[in-house]
Amino acid sequence: MIDIDIHHPVIKALAALLLLILWRRWAPVSYWYLFVFPRKAVWLRWSWRHVASGCGLTKKRQRWWFTTIPGLVASTGVVRVKRRFQRVAVDTKPWMGLPWPTRNGFRITFHLLDGQVPDDYAKVCERLAHAWRIEAVRVVGSRPGRVTLQGITQDPLTHVAPAEPPTEPSTGWSADDLLRPIVGVLETGAAWRMDFRLIPHWINVGATQSGKSNLLNALIVSLSPQPVAMVGFDLKGGVELSVYGPRLSALATTREQCLDLLTDLITVMGSRMLACRRHGVRDIWQLPDTLRPIPVVILIDELAELFLTADKTEKDQVTRTATALLRIAQLGRAFGIHLLLSGQRIGSDLGPGVTALRAQIGGRVCHRVNDPETAVMTLGDLDPDALVAARSIAPEMPGVAVITGADGRWYRARSGYVSTEAAERAAHTFADLTPSWAQVAASGLGHELPANGNPELAA
Ligand SMILES: Nc1ncnc2c1ncn2[C@@H]1O[C@H](COP(=O)(O)OP(=O)(O)O)[C@@H](O)[C@H]1O
Ligand SMILES: [Mg+2]
Repeated sequence: MIDIDIHHPVIKALAALLLLILWRRWAPVSYWYLFVFPRKAVWLRWSWRHVASGCGLTKKRQRWWFTTIPGLVASTGVVRVKRRFQRVAVDTKPWMGLPWPTRNGFRITFHLLDGQVPDDYAKVCERLAHAWRIEAVRVVGSRPGRVTLQGITQDPLTHVAPAEPPTEPSTGWSADDLLRPIVGVLETGAAWRMDFRLIPHWINVGATQSGKSNLLNALIVSLSPQPVAMVGFDLKGGVELSVYGPRLSALATTREQCLDLLTDLITVMGSRMLACRRHGVRDIWQLPDTLRPIPVVILIDELAELFLTADKTEKDQVTRTATALLRIAQLGRAFGIHLLLSGQRIGSDLGPGVTALRAQIGGRVCHRVNDPETAVMTLGDLDPDALVAARSIAPEMPGVAVITGADGRWYRARSGYVSTEAAERAAHTFADLTPSWAQVAASGLGHELPANGNPELAA
């Protein structure tokens, strides 16, 4: 029989190693908080001077300093060291707050040096990530004189829980959530809210199978319980959106229907404009609750189909469609009419007016794309790093996208998986909340509406 001395240092070390491996395997959260993070935090503080200097975040400052000057005493030839108090230029590093652990990494606040802005930190995020040996670094907040960075040690987008559609008609949203649906998670671990109140229109771009329709499903699921009207444009013969029919106030599946519906929407916008003028307010959100018209979210799948032309007569239709969309994009925000345009690319090659339309749309979602130009087209001059992030989305991670956040910065995010069936179920569950088109149109005319926002208007 082999005699094992359990007090032997090697055996002890092996046992400790085994314990660590088991701890990491079975309780990764406590392993991170209690074992990895404290060491990381010490190392971050200790190495900050070098890292800051390497990333160009230090500044030269004049300081009074003791300096040693070797001097030769002429008579004896002996080298004497003299100390003198004099002004020298020294590297100053930004002050680093205590690193704070989060589930997927840590947060640190820095005090900006004179002349620095948060953008200086945003520009060196990739360098910081490499220096800190972590997945990514993002700027997540700033106050005057301060910037907060989030270090991400593991990609939280690898496993995103599928969105759970609410099942009870009475649950699922609060007034604060109105038009601010949660559709997934951000790379920072925070919820990804598509805030239509702040950014009224969005474009949703990506190659096929990149997750565009999934995002649409997620939107339908989280908007369904809210007192909003959804309108669908689906020129693929309605195969994508018609299943959500019970929760749509209108659905257009042919070009003629699209143009008619857009014309109707512009009429609705016009009447809301008049209502606002009558009450002396600038937008519908300043109207009293009982008078506020029902917000409308226009969902357009495959925008390119709207712009395809075969002959001359269609050309006229396309031009009118483009003009109508542009008017909605320009004026819709104030009157509660919001756009979500999905497509493989949204560029001038689709037709006249598309560039102008895109310029009016602040919200950007860029899924995996086939060519760099599409990413540039979608994200514009957001940030070169955003383009790099968009182009490195792997095909095996559908639903991952680079998006504009509520703070105007870009984030990697992933929509929660929502199957067509789940979205269809939500559309049926909340079918009662669907305002009819007549209600949508009438709700801008200044009729008194019940406070729940889903009016049963007397005809
Ligand atoms: N957020 C996501 N999480 C997990 N899987 C997703 C996600 N988004 C999309 N998928 C998967 O990718 C497939 C293609 O997505 P889809 O939304 O239909 O792409 P697109 O409309 O861009 O062609 C879906 O069938 C789904 O299985
Ligand atoms: Mg699709």
